[in-house]
Formats: sequence, C-alpha cells, structure tokens
Amino acid sequence: MTQADVNPIDAALADIPAAARGQVVPIVDFGSQYVQLIARRVREAGVYAFLVGPDISLEQLQAINPKGVILSGGPSSVYEHGAPTIDERLFELGVPVLGICYGMQIGAKLLGADVSHAQAREYGRAHLRINDRADLFKGLPSQTSVWMSHGDQVTGLSDDFEPLAQTDTCPFAAVRHKRHPFFGVQFHPEVTHTPHGRDLLSNFLFTACGCTGTWRMADFLDAEAARLRDTVGGSRVICGLSGGVDSSVVAAMLARAIGQQLTCIFVDNGLLRKAERDLVEQTFRGHFDIDLRVIDAEADFLNDLAGVTDPQEKRRRIGHRFIQVFKHASADIPDARFLAQGTLYPDVIESGQGYSGAAANIKLHHNVGGLPEELGFELIEPLRNLFKDEVRKLGEVLGLPESIVWRHPFPGPGLAVRVLGEVNRAQLDLLRDCDEIVLEEIVAENLYRKTSQVFAVLLPVKAVGVMGDGRTHEQVVAVRAVETQDFMTADWARIPYDVLAKISNRIINEVRGVNRVVYDISSKPPATIEWE
Ligand code: XMP
Repeated sequence: MTQADVNPIDAALADIPAAARGQVVPIVDFGSQYVQLIARRVREAGVYAFLVGPDISLEQLQAINPKGVILSGGPSSVYEHGAPTIDERLFELGVPVLGICYGMQIGAKLLGADVSHAQAREYGRAHLRINDRADLFKGLPSQTSVWMSHGDQVTGLSDDFEPLAQTDTCPFAAVRHKRHPFFGVQFHPEVTHTPHGRDLLSNFLFTACGCTGTWRMADFLDAEAARLRDTVGGSRVICGLSGGVDSSVVAAMLARAIGQQLTCIFVDNGLLRKAERDLVEQTFRGHFDIDLRVIDAEADFLNDLAGVTDPQEKRRRIGHRFIQVFKHASADIPDARFLAQGTLYPDVIESGQGYSGAAANIKLHHNVGGLPEELGFELIEPLRNLFKDEVRKLGEVLGLPESIVWRHPFPGPGLAVRVLGEVNRAQLDLLRDCDEIVLEEIVAENLYRKTSQVFAVLLPVKAVGVMGDGRTHEQVVAVRAVETQDFMTADWARIPYDVLAKISNRIINEVRGVNRVVYDISSKPPATIEWE
C-alpha cells in the first residue's frame, strides 16, 4: 500500500500513542484559534487529546473508542451555507460531548435548539452567574469571570435542555441536555482569562467522562521506545542534533530505545553561541554515551557568508550549506536507514498532515534545518504527537540537564541573524562575548525561566562615546528579551532597570569594540523577535 492509499483519518488513528489508548478525548476542530490550547489543557489534566476534522464519521469516532468528545469553537455561523458541521449521529456514540462556543451551537442545533445572531456581540471578559453546580460547575463559586468571543448564541431551548449559567447578555451561557450527555458552554474555558476554566474541563473529563487521567510521559516513553525498536529493527538511525530542546529529546529518547544503533550529527557552523558545542558534547557524548559526530564546518559557512548582507540570502546560503554538510556526514555512516527529526504536534497540525480539517494555517514556518527527501532516509518523528511542554517533561524523564530542557529557542541560522550586516568571525566573536554577558546576568537574576527568549544583537552602526579622556567610535549592541506563549506574538520583557544597567555596564566595560547598549521595547507584531 502506498502512502496515498492510506485514509488520513485512519493514519491519524494509528498515530494514537499506545500509552493513551482507551483514554482519549478527540477534539473536533471547527477552526478555532484556541483549538490547540484546548488540546494542551486536556493533556495537562492527564488525558490524551488530539484534533480531528469535522468530517469524521460516527464509525471512525467509534474506532477511536473515546471517553468523550470536545467540539471546538470556530469562526463560522452554524446557519451559514457550507458551515462545518459534524456527523449528526454524534450522540449515538453515547459518550459525553462538550461543545465550546461554535461547538456548543452545533451540538445544541443538532439536538433541536435555535441559534441566531446575539443582540449584543460579546468579546472579552464577562461575568458569569452559575445556577447549577451539579457536574460541569462542581466546586466552582456561584459567580466567576469567563472569556467570551462570539456573535451568535443559542437563543431558543426546548424543555430538553437545562440552562446552567448565564451572563447579562447571554441567557444560555452554559447548558446541559437532559437525555443526551451533552454540555455546551458559550465561553472559552481553555484560555487563562477564564480563571476556573481548568476546573470546568476537569469536571467534564473526570466527572462526566470518567477519564482516569493517566496520560504520563513515563508511560509514553516506555511504549514509544518499544515502538521505535520495532520500527528500526537492526538498522542504524541518524539524528541531526542542534542542541535545542526538541532534537536533544529525540536523541535521548532514541538512545534509550536503541542505544548504540544511533548516530548523532552535530554541525558546528561557526554561528553558535559561546560554549554551545561543549554543552552538546558533554551531554551526549559524556552523559548519554551516544555515538556523536561533530562536524567542524565553520570555515565553509563563513566562506559562504562573506560579503553577504541581505538576510534572506544569508538564510538561503546557510540552509544550502547545511544540507551539503549533513549529506556528506551521513554518507559516511554505514547501514543508516532512518533519519530522526524533532517534529512536534503543532508542526504536524499546521503543515496540514494531521487530520484536522479547519485549523487556520497561520504559522509561517522557519525551516532552515529541514532536510530534503533526496537524502533517501525514512523519517522517524518520535515527538510528532507532543506539545512543547510535554517534550520538556519527557526531557526531564529522560534525565536531560535543566540547561537543555529549559533552553530558550535558538534559530537554525544561528548568530547569522543576530549579526546584522556582514557576518564574519570578528563580528561573531564580538556578539558571542556580549551575548554571554546578557545570559549570565539573566540567569543570575533568576529571569531565564520567566522569559521566553533573551539575546544580544550586534548592529552594523557605530556610535560616538567617551571613555576616559578619549572619544570612541564603536558599535552598538541591542538587548532583546521577550515573553510569549507561542512565538507568534510576543511582548518585550519588563527586565528590571538595575539588571539592564548591569548588563550594559558589563558589556561596555568588558567587550572591546562596543560603547553603547540599547534595549528593544518592541512587541511582535509589528516587530519580530529576531532583528535579522
Ligand atoms: P521571529 O523573528 O519570526 O521568530 O519573530 C520567531 C521564533 O522563531 C525563531 N526563528 C527561527 N527558528 N530557524 C529556526 O529554527 C530559523 O530560521 C528561525 N528564524 C527565527 C526565533 O528565534 C523565534 O524564536
């Protein structure tokens, strides 16, 4: 059977980790911007959730054998022509269904309720009054705030429904059906602006669905390691190690599963931070005893970058060289049949491979480290069902050091996107020294885990300064620190002034060639995180 013959739903079902079977909650994706957040919240509660498209059939749902089903929100109106809906036999499944926003409207409509434009659209925080705290709202206060974002709402309910809660403009902000195990909430329990949202989801999962909450990284690891051994057989697996969290967890997981059948390739492109290569060598060669090949390709990369100032051209050349170096290095490894990659679940969803029809493709993919199919390896992607926070948990279970598990992301093209203008060894060394100081101070002040990404950028301009009695004309360094959930939007971090002062003093005093430090106070959008 070729890949094209495999039904995407069946492929997605086959992808459910063995450790989760029998305890899963699929989320029908109607295109909500929060759909991944719902899945993360459910998994945080210890229940395995994954996305499915609205055209999933009753039979396919039955094959999943779910403990419950969640219907996500979405941008459509249920009465609009062509609006996504779900197999109308949904309730024949007999398991609890929770509809959120659009999902509530779809579920309620299938069960005979009226849905129409709300008199007043509701966006943002709303005050919820709860009048039934038997199940969904068990243990919650009688009043709480919730996050609303809707134009339509359920307006007419038959006697089959019981209203559970309301806001000033939404009389049926939460409902329960009397005969079918259906709950609907008009608000979004998955966002942090709904402070009791997690409690509500837990009530649904544990009280209504009877989930056991046994989705744990340690079980996942055991089951996946067995599956990896099965797939790999006696062959050799190559893993491109970057020093980032994802590839490190893949490597450590494979080391656990197949030991000496793994070879890791780490390309030193000369665009790394200070001590980055040492950390990777110590961790993987020293601690995990992995066959690690470090390829020293600095000269090739810097040669390619000589005289180039255009950021896109830098990326293109780096990407191209990386593939060449990797190809060359992997050709030296006999019996190599598989290539392991650190693809995560959000990548699977956003690339449209996951079986989830409606999720908007909003994330632009930076894919400098991607390797082409022509390399001829079969891919294995042991993290393809995991969210980033789960990958970190898995890293901890595997015994990776905190400095790797909690590492801020680092772009594939490395410091080349942070040395603006021409990239050469001298500029890279200058930036490495500044960057090291920034990170040292951030770590010393306990700010590393509170920020999402912190780094220095070397600007291609010179400014006038005065040092001692002399006038200087030296370069400017920008410090960038951001806080973000998903790196799609980000706010600049409010690093305390005295920490910034210390960073600035140290850079100007300790790094020859820099006489001015500025702090970047732009959020994303409209700025990006990197300067390029
Ligand atoms: P921007 O600058 O677009 O960055 O706001 C968003 C996130 O992506 C990282 N980034 C990259 N990661 N290869 C990567 O693996 C790349 O080419 C690349 N460019 C940017 C950036 O550091 C930030 O975390």
